[in-house]
Amino acid sequence: MSELTTRAGALDAADELAGVRKQFVLDEVVYLDGNSLGALPANVPGHIEDVVRRQWGELRIRSWDESGWWTAPERIGDRIAPLVGAAPGQIVVGDSTSVNVFKALVAAVRLADSAGAAGSAGSVGSAGSVGSAGAVGSAGVAGSVGSGRDEILVDATTFPTDGYIAESAARMTGRTLRPVTPAEVPGALSDRTAAVLLNHVDYRTGRLHDLPSLTTAVHAAGAVAVWDLCHSAGALPVGLDEHGVDLAVGCTYKYLNGGPGSPAYLYVRRELQDRFDSPLPGWNSHAEPFGMRPAFEPAAGALRGRVGTPDILSMLALEAALEVWDGVRIEAVRAKSLALTDFFLECVAAYVPEGRVESVTPVAHSERGSQVALRCDDAGDVMKRLIERGVVGDFRHPDVLRFGFTPLYVGFADVERAARVLGEVLR
Ligand SMILES: Cc1ncc(COP(=O)(O)O)c(C=O)c1O
Repeated sequence: MSELTTRAGALDAADELAGVRKQFVLDEVVYLDGNSLGALPANVPGHIEDVVRRQWGELRIRSWDESGWWTAPERIGDRIAPLVGAAPGQIVVGDSTSVNVFKALVAAVRLADSAGAAGSAGSVGSAGSVGSAGAVGSAGVAGSVGSGRDEILVDATTFPTDGYIAESAARMTGRTLRPVTPAEVPGALSDRTAAVLLNHVDYRTGRLHDLPSLTTAVHAAGAVAVWDLCHSAGALPVGLDEHGVDLAVGCTYKYLNGGPGSPAYLYVRRELQDRFDSPLPGWNSHAEPFGMRPAFEPAAGALRGRVGTPDILSMLALEAALEVWDGVRIEAVRAKSLALTDFFLECVAAYVPEGRVESVTPVAHSERGSQVALRCDDAGDVMKRLIERGVVGDFRHPDVLRFGFTPLYVGFADVERAARVLGEVLR
């Protein structure tokens, strides 16, 4: 037995989260792709069986009230809230991440305009007395940027969907889109910036960006910060309330294990909710959805982030999946995540022939998410061979091997085995 195998055993024995793994459906495969699709929590199939057979099959339409279907978006939002450091009443679940990026970014531009109109562009968060939501956003018409904030900054290294949507949001609101790296954001901010769309963790490299300081810089420029939490929520503490984040979105199918295509979520900071002017007002975000009024009047609170009928089956699968978090501290998850990625890098250095891979994931803990990305010449082929040998990560074009470490179900012996098999494949 090698020294690394012995260490893995000791680390697993001391792991306070080791017991959570049995709440998931897993086999002998080393599953390092939870940053793409989280594993199935064992309670979900039985719960969905009940939702389909009893709630839908027997109660039918009564379930909108009696089974709590109608209020699921905000109820499940409140369940996600502690994982991202948000007090209740600020998150709604629904739609895809892409759609929520659109809602958040257009709403952010409208917020920046309304703050500017009130003469308090420097403190978007405190401009709570600006007009009614119905009046917000009137400057958001192409060619008439009343606030002078004619730019949107977007993370140039972003997951593509955010970039595509930011481009469209910029065109719709008459702004210029400036792609900049997160490191360049402080230097690019000015009184022309309306909104900034950033990723908390880079999907390709696993780099963790400095959410507190970037949010502070965005606010100092009088702009609105929108964060994409897809690769951080459920893997590390986010601290949305603590750091004064304005708007945030994230998916639930990665570290939150909600299932393929499970609904995303939208966070709207409480102080901004009265002025949150959604570009997708639907009957579910109406103050009185069953009033069937021709004129839109937004609901109070985070509910105005809803659009149409929620996707109940996916949503209730997510709700059941979130039960694995009962009694789990996100700080413990973060500590284990860092220990796992440290140990993986150490095992890779020991097992993989020198020069075959290069880590593009930062060494510093303060800059690392919960994945390790290794650049490798024939990465696509290497990943295929890893998967054939029971180690599942993924390949990101053009040359990145991505390994995600979900602390709820990945152990140190898994990490050692993955690095050992990678060494064998590359030798
Ligand atoms: C950072 C980021 N944003 C957005 C998405 C995807 O958005 P959607 O849930 O709409 O497919 C992903 C998917 O992996 C992502 O990594």
